[in-house]
Amino acid sequence: MKIILPNSIFITFLIIATRVSPEYTRPNPRPLLLRQHVRPDSHAEQVHISLAGKGYMRISWITSDERVKAVVEYGKTSGEYEAYAKGERSISYSYFLYRSGAIHHVKIGPLEPSTVYYYRCGGSGPEFSFRTPPSAFPIEFAVAGDLGQTEWTASTLAHVGAKDYDVFLLPGDLSYADTQQPLWDSFARLVEPYASSRPWMVTQGNHDVESFPIIYPHGFKAYNARWLMPHQESRSTSNLYYSFDVAGAHIIMLGSYAEYNVNSDQYKWLQADLERVNRSETPWIFVLIHAPWYNSNLAHMGEGEGMRKAMEEMLYNARVDIVFAGHVHAYERFTRVYDNKADPCGPVHITIGDGGNREGLAMLFASPTPSVSLYREPSFGHGRLRVHNSTHAHWSWHRNNDSDSLQADEIWLESLKSSLTCKEIEKTSKSPKDEL
Ligand SMILES: *[C@@H]1O[C@H](CO)[C@@H](O)[C@H](O)[C@H]1NC(C)=O
Ligand SMILES: *[C@@H]1O[C@H](CO)[C@@H](O)[C@H](O)[C@H]1NC(C)=O
Ligand SMILES: *[C@@H]1O[C@H](CO)[C@@H](O)[C@H](O)[C@H]1NC(C)=O
Ligand SMILES: [Fe+2]
Repeated sequence: MKIILPNSIFITFLIIATRVSPEYTRPNPRPLLLRQHVRPDSHAEQVHISLAGKGYMRISWITSDERVKAVVEYGKTSGEYEAYAKGERSISYSYFLYRSGAIHHVKIGPLEPSTVYYYRCGGSGPEFSFRTPPSAFPIEFAVAGDLGQTEWTASTLAHVGAKDYDVFLLPGDLSYADTQQPLWDSFARLVEPYASSRPWMVTQGNHDVESFPIIYPHGFKAYNARWLMPHQESRSTSNLYYSFDVAGAHIIMLGSYAEYNVNSDQYKWLQADLERVNRSETPWIFVLIHAPWYNSNLAHMGEGEGMRKAMEEMLYNARVDIVFAGHVHAYERFTRVYDNKADPCGPVHITIGDGGNREGLAMLFASPTPSVSLYREPSFGHGRLRVHNSTHAHWSWHRNNDSDSLQADEIWLESLKSSLTCKEIEKTSKSPKDEL
C-alpha cells in the first residue's frame, strides 16, 4: 500500500507487513493534533528557546498583537525578575494570504550554567522557566527528527519529557505545515511545554522549504522567521547551517537543502568552523543533517549521496564522532563508516527520523542488510545521547510502544579524540577536493 499525501514532495512507503521484530505490531499513523490560540492577543504564545552563544539563550515567541514590545524579564526566583533584555527584532511575514503574528527574538544573558531561570515575555502573561545546560560533562541530549504534529508526536514528546535531559536536537522536518502556515502556529503550540523549558536546536528538512516558483523561490520563509538559530554567533551567513558548543561538545547543524558543493558558502563555512574547533575544549563533535548519507531503507535511498560526496571527507578528517540524520521515518544505526566501508575512524551514522509525523513509518528496508548497518527498525521513538566525560558517551534508542517508551537499542561510544589510532588529520592540510 502506498499513500501519497497531496502536499508531500516525497513518497513515504507505508507497507503494512509483518517483519523485523515479530512480537511487535507496527503502529499506523495517527491523526493530527491541532492546538488553537487560547491566550489573549497581547500574551506570548509559541514560546521556544535556543542556545545563542556562550552563556546566552534566545527566547522566541509570538503575539497576535503587534504592539507588544520585544522584552523578556527573567530571574532565578519565580515571579521576581531582576533582569530584563530587549529584543533584537520583531518581524512578521506573509505567505500568500497568510500573515503571521509578531515574531519576537530576545537574547538574554549572561546566564549561569545548570541553573533554572523564570521568565516572562512582553511584560505580561504567563511565566515560563528553563534550565541552562551544564558547563561540563555529563550532558544529555534528546534527539528526534521528522516530528510533525500528530498523536504520535505527542507520544514521542511525552517520552522525551518523562526523563531529564539538557538540550533537544532536531535533524529537520518540524511542523509538516507544507505551506499551510497556520500549521506552523499549531506546531509551536504543541511543542511549547518542551521547547520553552529546554533549548531546541534544529536544522531544516525538506518539509520546511516551502518554496514556490517566482514568488518564494528561495523558500524557508516561515522556518527562518520562526526558528532563528545561532548562525551569526557561529559566523555563518545563513540560518540553514550553524554550530554551537555546549558542555564539551561541538555540534554542527548542516543544511541538506542549502548549497553544499566545494565552492558553496556552506562548504567554506564548515571548513572554517572545523578549523576553529579546539578538541581540548570540545572533545566531541556531533553533526546533524536531514537526508541521511547512509540509509538502507527503501524510502529516500540515495538522496543524501550528493552531499555525502561533497562533505564526507571533511567530517572524516576532522574525526566527527556521530552524524545524525532524519528524513527516513524509521530508526537505523550504522557502524563507524567512511566512504561506504566500515572504518574505525569514521563517524557513527544514525537515522532518527522517527518523531511521529502524519506520513507514517518507512517500513521497507533493503535486503540483505548491508554489513555496515547494525540495527534498523521502522518504529516511532526518540534517542538519547548521554555524554559522560571526554571519552565515553552512551547512545540509546527508545521505541514508542503505545503509551510506554521502551529502550530497544543502545551502544557505548568512545570519542575519536581519545583514540590513539585515529589522530585528527592536520587541520591546515588541504583536502584533495580543493584542487578540483
Ligand atoms: C508493548 O507494550 C505492551 C503493553 O504494555 C506489552 O505487552 C508489550 O510487551 C510491549 N512490546 C514491545 C515490543 O515493546
Ligand atoms: C585549546 O584549549 C586549551 C584549553 O582551554 C588551551 O590550553 C589551548 O591553548 C587551546 N589551543 C589552541 C590552539 O587554542
Ligand atoms: C568516563 O566515563 C566512563 C563511563 O561512565 C567510565 O567508565 C570512565 O572511567 C570515565 N573516564 C574518566 C576519565 O573519568
Ligand atoms: Fe524529510
